[in-house]
Amino acid sequence: MMTVCDFQAKKASGEKITMITCYDFTSAAILNKTSIDCILVGDSLAMTMHGFSDTISATMDMMALHTAAVSRGAKDKFIIGDMPFLSFRSSLNENIAAVRALMQAGAHAVKLEGANGNTEFISHLVHSGVPVMGHIGLTPQFLNQLGGYKVQGKTEESAKRLLEEAIALEEAGCFSLVLECVPAAVATRITQQLKITTIGIGAGAETDGQVLVFQDLLGLNTSFSPKFVRKFMDGAALVTQAVEGYAQSVKTKEFPSHEHCY
Ligand code: KIV
Repeated sequence: MMTVCDFQAKKASGEKITMITCYDFTSAAILNKTSIDCILVGDSLAMTMHGFSDTISATMDMMALHTAAVSRGAKDKFIIGDMPFLSFRSSLNENIAAVRALMQAGAHAVKLEGANGNTEFISHLVHSGVPVMGHIGLTPQFLNQLGGYKVQGKTEESAKRLLEEAIALEEAGCFSLVLECVPAAVATRITQQLKITTIGIGAGAETDGQVLVFQDLLGLNTSFSPKFVRKFMDGAALVTQAVEGYAQSVKTKEFPSHEHCY
C-alpha cells in the first residue's frame, strides 16, 4: 500500500501520482484491484451520491459513513477522507472530533480546503499523527464566496496569492496539495516551488499527480462535462444498455433461463 512517504518519493523520481474519488464499497473493491495509487473520499459525494447541487451539503456523518464503506472495500489503498464544509472551522475539540471520526472510519489522511486560518490547525494535526492534504484554487466549499465555479489564479496578483497559500500549507506540514482549476502555468510554478507533491484537477499536466471524480471519468455523469474531464468510457450508455438488456430479457421470458434456476 502507498504510504505518505511514497508521495515524496514519487515527486523525487518524477513518477506521476494517480488519485480517484470513491464513495462506496463495491467501487472501492474494484479500485483495490487496480494500480491506482490512492483514493479520495471527497465531499463531492454530496453531489455524486446524494444528488445535492453543491458540496456544502456534505456532513460529517456522510463523510464517515462513506469513508468506512470505502475502507472496507479498498483494504490495500491509501485513503484520504475529505473534511466537509465548516467541520474544521469550529472549536479545537469539535475539529479534532471530526478528524477522529474520519481516521477511525478508515482514512489514512484528511484533506481540507483553503489555507487562510487553517495553518495552525493543520500543524496541530500533523503533530498529532494525522497526515494532511491541502486543497487550493477552486475550492468548492467557497462557492458562495467565489461567486461560482470559476478558474482561479488567472491574474498575476491572484496567482501570487495561490503560491503564498501553497507555501503556507507546505510550511504548516501538509504532505500534499490539491490544485483545482488553475491555469497550467500557475500550477507548474507552484509544483516547481514546493517540496511536497501537487495533485491537479483542471490544473494542467505538470502537477505531480492527477485526480478525477470516479463518476466523471467513467462517463456516468451526463449532466457535467467540464473541459478538464476525460471520459475514459461511456458509462451511462453502457449501464443503460445493460439495464435495457435485462428488462427485455425478462419481458421476453428469456431470463431467467435453465442455468439460473434451482
Ligand atoms: O471532493 C472532491 O471530489 C475533491 C476533488 C475534486 C479534489 O475535492
